[in-house]
Amino acid sequence: MANYHNLSNVFTTTETSLSNTLFKSPPFHSFTALILEISPNPFPNTMAQELNVIKNNTINLETPIFDPEFETFRSRFNSDHIYVAGHVLVYPSYNGFFEKPGLYLDQLFVRTCYRGLGFGKMLFSAVASQAANNGMGMVDWLVADWNEKSMKFYDKMGAHYIPQYKLCKLYGEKLQQYANISP
Ligand SMILES: CC(C)(COP(=O)(O)OP(=O)(O)OC[C@H]1O[C@@H](n2cnc3c(N)ncnc32)[C@H](O)[C@@H]1OP(=O)(O)O)[C@@H](O)C(=O)NCCC(=O)NCCS
Repeated sequence: MANYHNLSNVFTTTETSLSNTLFKSPPFHSFTALILEISPNPFPNTMAQELNVIKNNTINLETPIFDPEFETFRSRFNSDHIYVAGHVLVYPSYNGFFEKPGLYLDQLFVRTCYRGLGFGKMLFSAVASQAANNGMGMVDWLVADWNEKSMKFYDKMGAHYIPQYKLCKLYGEKLQQYANISP
């Protein structure tokens, strides 16, 4: 995802940082990663017992998919023909303008060879249905202004765009300058 956005210069995530912050609480209660795993075979029953499985779907393909990186993306759960095809991060959000809290969606990504098959919609729907079914008021996220393909996808998902806002971030040295200032 950092490569896709040409942001590898600001990318500081590590395996340790991810395992320290994700998968610590039940899905959607804090920082949560939803991992989309796919298999040509039915998933083993033990998978649902051991993992927080949100949804199990079957799709019928017209042509087989060739995944050139399947070795790298073998499932950690069970490497037998189960592969990671995409992911999304999500966490609770709040905006004082709105009556109800929501979910913030980040890093929605479907690996190239799996695009156009409904997997992005599956990930997005898992997040949006969680918000709608739990009395939340919104799902929000950012999309880069050059990312027209994703905007077309988000159009299909029902997105509204709010052009009057710009993203602001304080990070790195600029944030550290505040470290020794008493509030
Ligand atoms: C954006 C992304 C997640 C979409 O995933 P996907 O699996 O290819 O999308 P789906 O197959 O689920 O498509 C769902 C719908 O969006 C439409 N859609 C998806 N990409 C589209 C595109 N580039 N142009 C037009 N429509 C598109 C599909 O036609 C489909 O429409 P339908 O429901 O009417 O059939 C994927 O392309 C991706 O990972 N892109 C790179 C990373 C990225 O930009 N992430 C978003 C960061 S903000």
